[in-house]
Amino acid sequence: MQSEKWTQLWLDYHKMYDGKDSWIIAVTGFDKENTIIANALKEFTKGIEALTGETVLGTSEVMNALTFTVSQNVTLSKESYRIEGSHDGILLEASDENGVIYGVFAILRQIACGKKALEVEEAKAPSNPLRMMNHWDNMDGSIERGYSGDSFFFEDEEIVINDRTTDYARFMASIGINAVVINNVNVKGAASYLITDRYFDKVKELSDIFEGYGIKLYMSLNFASPIEIGGLDTCDPLDKEVIAWWQGKMKEVYEHLPNFGGFLVKADSEGRPGPFTYGRTQADGANMLGDVIKPYGGIIIWRCFVYNCTQDWRDTKTDRARAGYDYFKDLDGAYHDNVVLQIKNGPMDFQIREPVSPLLGGLQHTNQMLEVQIAQEYTGHQIDLCYLIPLYKEVLDFHTHCCRGKDTVADVVSGRTMGNALGGMAAVINTGDDENWTGNDLAAANTYGFGRLSFDTELTSEEIAREWIALTFNLPEKETTLLCNMLLGSRETYEKYTSPLGIGWMVTPMGHYGPSVDGYEYSRWGTYHRADHLGIGVDRTDKGTGYAQQYYEENAKMYNDPAACPEELILFFHHLPYTYMLKTGKTLIQHIYDSHFEGEKEAEDLSADWDKLKNVIPAQAFDRVRKRFDLQLDNAKEWRDQVNSYFYRKSGIPDEKNRTIY
Ligand code: GCU
Repeated sequence: MQSEKWTQLWLDYHKMYDGKDSWIIAVTGFDKENTIIANALKEFTKGIEALTGETVLGTSEVMNALTFTVSQNVTLSKESYRIEGSHDGILLEASDENGVIYGVFAILRQIACGKKALEVEEAKAPSNPLRMMNHWDNMDGSIERGYSGDSFFFEDEEIVINDRTTDYARFMASIGINAVVINNVNVKGAASYLITDRYFDKVKELSDIFEGYGIKLYMSLNFASPIEIGGLDTCDPLDKEVIAWWQGKMKEVYEHLPNFGGFLVKADSEGRPGPFTYGRTQADGANMLGDVIKPYGGIIIWRCFVYNCTQDWRDTKTDRARAGYDYFKDLDGAYHDNVVLQIKNGPMDFQIREPVSPLLGGLQHTNQMLEVQIAQEYTGHQIDLCYLIPLYKEVLDFHTHCCRGKDTVADVVSGRTMGNALGGMAAVINTGDDENWTGNDLAAANTYGFGRLSFDTELTSEEIAREWIALTFNLPEKETTLLCNMLLGSRETYEKYTSPLGIGWMVTPMGHYGPSVDGYEYSRWGTYHRADHLGIGVDRTDKGTGYAQQYYEENAKMYNDPAACPEELILFFHHLPYTYMLKTGKTLIQHIYDSHFEGEKEAEDLSADWDKLKNVIPAQAFDRVRKRFDLQLDNAKEWRDQVNSYFYRKSGIPDEKNRTIY
């Protein structure tokens, strides 16, 4: 059963000051009846009235009222806006409806962050064409890797639409999201029928709500649909009957859903069907779908998360980290222009720290999109505090060396490097039907932050954290700084007590919460640490699996050499003895001990800092988060003691500081 109540997250519009004015609205160049414009004006009214206590009177003439002028300016780029306050009111200029709604949310954000209405000022164009959320929601209502309750889109194989749906769309628009995939990438059972009569009406209703907030609806697609719902005996992408079936299907889809964005496809991955079954390439599969959806303006987003998940752990030559590049690099340039490859930030799977995938920028003639995970699958299940924006920033700022200048991941996925029109950022979202949407109230900082960052990749992690705190809690300066610092350090804290130096994994199999050092060591998933009594780490250099050589020369050299390799990733690239001396002057084993003790201590500090906020955070939110810190402390202790004991027992080397290790 869905929760009847839900919070307003960062759109709570706290009263900021008592204004004395009233407002009228003037719109030029845009159609006021357009649903995006109407929703934008409704939001302006709601926001201004709550934030300033002033009244918005619509368009009727009132003496001495301030004017909110919304005006079309076609010289501005797509989806961009310009806002400017003056003694007469506020002017918002945009070239299109999305620009208007983003401009309205920018005005409200600036006021909620402390400006007076007449002081607002900003001009922004989105950094990325596609700013997308991927829901991993299943039609039975469960959510794959969901830690915030059940789906608010699906229940018992039906689509759910209510006021919460509209609030969801508002939240997404307020952070600049323009694309949402509603269902899990693992498309099975009823979800395969989302592209049939059984669901069209409801999907259309959902799509209309999204459209009113400038968001295009996308769906994940089952590559085997021609077999599973079409009754064919193959889904070979080059088979004529298969192609004809898809042509008919796309026609039907767009007859019912004229504004549909397109499909996200997980093929040949973790048991999902795909072109490999028929001896075809990933490009064969993606291009066939791209071609059949093209007449309708749709796009195909094809995931690069393709690897052999039935590896024999005895096989030390096969390296899962290599897989994405090995499967996709050779086909660079072969993908059609309405196909986008979606690439996870690292070569493995959303660990707390991984190197940036060498495919990003490794592909030079292919539309590409960065995929990150807001859902805290390996980063604490929204129990442990883990503000992920610094991780996303690191990825965006990484120099791929794919060319001179404009070579960062942000440049590549935005289209700046190659001059291509399609690309952007996607995130596996962390929402569910919990009252507070994200399980842990503080995990909403990641939801908010991803959207803001995808719209403006220049924002810093701190700016985003401060905005989110102001909008959500409106705390005094001292408490804002305290909470901001808690957020900013939390990723490193989590890294310290779990799996530092880039080794990753060591988590409980399947669930992925809590330690199990050897949990994946002898399994088929390709995720090994290879620790023995002398050392630990995976040799991915030219003498090992050769993964480091997938990067352009500057990076390849850096990763190949332990002395040059950033130490936070050293065990990702090198197998080293426990006595290896790090730049800090500590041995590897001493670093493992120290970081686990430190990380656990920092978790205690975070928990104590939260208590200092008791008087300024609303009681229910405070208690919800309080309970999670208790669980985080148990988790941090467990990680500390299991990891330290494991490596003490393997290596026989005692802790220099003689602390308790079991
Ligand atoms: C991870 C995750 C799966 C998910 C997969 C994916 O492996 O554990 O639940 O399906 O990523 O990204 O497709």
